[in-house]
Amino acid sequence: MPEIPYTADDLNYNNSSSRSNREQSDPSARPAISGSVENMEDYNVVLLGYPVWHGQAPKIIYTFLESYEFSGKTIVPFCTSHSSGIGSSDTNLHVLAPGADWRSGKRFPGGTGRETITDWVHGLDLSRTPTATGIGRFDFETGTVILNSGYAMPINGLGTYSLTGETCFTSVSAALERGVRLIDTAYMYHNEAEVGRAVRESGIPREEIFVITKLYPSQFANAEDAIDQALLVVSSFWVSA
Ligand SMILES: Cc1cc2nc3c(=O)[nH]c(=O)nc-3n(C[C@H](O)[C@H](O)[C@H](O)COP(=O)(O)O)c2cc1C
Repeated sequence: MPEIPYTADDLNYNNSSSRSNREQSDPSARPAISGSVENMEDYNVVLLGYPVWHGQAPKIIYTFLESYEFSGKTIVPFCTSHSSGIGSSDTNLHVLAPGADWRSGKRFPGGTGRETITDWVHGLDLSRTPTATGIGRFDFETGTVILNSGYAMPINGLGTYSLTGETCFTSVSAALERGVRLIDTAYMYHNEAEVGRAVRESGIPREEIFVITKLYPSQFANAEDAIDQALLVVSSFWVSA
């Protein structure tokens, strides 16, 4: 809500000196908002609705975006208009909250009912936004990062570069025994098989252990085959009878 409500005269866009017209043509206009959102940190997704005024969002929307920190939040703009499309009115807002995950905006005809807009919001599948699910977030308390799959992977693990043969097997076994749950290998380390054997013989449930491997540039041309090969080399040791 604006601190000073807009009267019908304020909204008369046929009068070039009406309040709304003056604000839209003044780059520095930032009409005050009445009250504030006390718990903005509790919101992952912000649905930002506005009427199109001369092809752009009203300046009070600029006031709103400059009043809070939106980094890491998803912003979904939508607008109503008499006849204009959304145009650049949504993308021109991006600079005001550069750290936000901006969705493309949607325009509705003026007077659109609540139900139409609610249906559109439900169709957006916002439950899967990175911020809502925590994907990509590093948690330094628990020492984990959330992967796209939703699994929480440890941040720290054992790198096995230069470890080969029995040295690799005993090193990985010792690390697993002491609680390490992330092992990093690569095709070019020539030790995927030993890593796999240590994982299997540790007796630790397979789903508790993360194994990272990497392709070598010579494999890039046939990446799919190389991934299949890595899975075979490693998993043939993991699949116990
Ligand atoms: C100052 C001002 C400028 C406007 N400029 C435009 C415009 O450029 N294009 C347009 O289609 N509608 C324009 N409108 C009409 C509004 O977008 C329309 O009244 C509003 O979207 C209706 O919203 P409602 O559904 O909340 O009533 C303007 C209205 C005002 C007050």
